[in-house]
Amino acid sequence: MNPQWDACTSRLFNLHVFALVTSQRECKSTAEGAFWYNLVQRGANETVKGRVLVIGASGMLGHDVCARFAPHFTLVTASRQGGDVRLDITDGEATRRVVSETAPDVVVLCAAYTDVDGCERNPEEAYRINAFGTANVASACTEVGARLLYVSTDYVFDGDKGDGYTEWDAPHPLNVYGASKLAGEAWIREVCPRHWTVRTAWLYGVGGRCFPRTILRAAREGKPLRVVNDQRGSPTFTWDLAGALLEMVQREVAYGTYHVVNGGTATWYELACEVVRLARERGWLSAEVSVTPIHSHEWPSPTRRPACSVLKMERWRWAGLTPLRHWRAALRDYMYRLEA
Ligand SMILES: NC(=O)c1ccc[n+]([C@@H]2O[C@H](COP(=O)([O-])OP(=O)(O)OC[C@H]3O[C@@H](n4cnc5c(N)ncnc54)[C@H](OP(=O)(O)O)[C@@H]3O)[C@@H](O)[C@H]2O)c1
Repeated sequence: MNPQWDACTSRLFNLHVFALVTSQRECKSTAEGAFWYNLVQRGANETVKGRVLVIGASGMLGHDVCARFAPHFTLVTASRQGGDVRLDITDGEATRRVVSETAPDVVVLCAAYTDVDGCERNPEEAYRINAFGTANVASACTEVGARLLYVSTDYVFDGDKGDGYTEWDAPHPLNVYGASKLAGEAWIREVCPRHWTVRTAWLYGVGGRCFPRTILRAAREGKPLRVVNDQRGSPTFTWDLAGALLEMVQREVAYGTYHVVNGGTATWYELACEVVRLARERGWLSAEVSVTPIHSHEWPSPTRRPACSVLKMERWRWAGLTPLRHWRAALRDYMYRLEA
């Protein structure tokens, strides 16, 4: 084990409160100090039961994963721009070093190249991050015996099935983003037997830019909205998803692939209408906003998207895990949190 970890562990468990506060003050001035400061501060929580490394912690889902895991685990956060540690998962050596030095019980991999149109334009970058970056994390986890929780996407499916996909349906991505994430899934299956792959969809959350936020901004500006109505999916609140990921880890469910989304289904148009309705209900809109349904081909995008990528949570149900609420209830909660 890294000697710094030994030092940190002894700080966590042996120092009394005054010494703890003093040591935090001493090391707060440097970047490295801030890292240990966070660990010591979090480690003071008596309910901590293990160490979780969240990669992609600065992203929308990462934000809520950190919030929901923090009361239960010692967290170490990583992403390219910052966190407790800076990490680019495309750098295999750095990934191995960070995972081995943090010695996590579980790694939650939220990091990805998530700009779907960007992936289409830069397929090399998409595979570099979503496939090979994921492979780096998977092999680093195997080396230290950590379990890996990988977040994947409904876009691994082509949408032709029509009534939604179970975990046992065969993937067939239509776009580079979906294909690169599917390659990430394959690497993990190959390299890291102790893994959970969680496919989710149409995420929104307070910790990042997302479709409801974009609609809300445009509606507040009084702009007329034209929204695609021939793509159906499973809108999912990152807060609810992060809670579900926590439940999986805490209950140590069987390894493998799970679909995790809020209940119900919607088109982008239906989702936009609900955002506008809730905004109007809260008195956020000064004028009427028109929302017009359009076909996918009327929206300029280089990317093919599935017509129906609804995810069914068959395996989740069989495992007896807590069902997630309907997306309308989750969206209402999201709007409350935006207001707060
Ligand atoms: N958004 C959706 O609708 C959706 C739907 C289905 C599945 N998912 C999946 O859910 C997960 C989380 O998505 P999200 O929307 O929360 O993503 P996001 O907001 O775009 O955040 C992505 C995170 O990944 C980090 N990252 C990107 N490239 C990295 C690299 N090379 N090395 C290290 N970190 C890197 C970013 O950190 P920096 O900014 O610091 O680089 C950021 O923290 C992803 O796996 C995504 O594929 C998302």
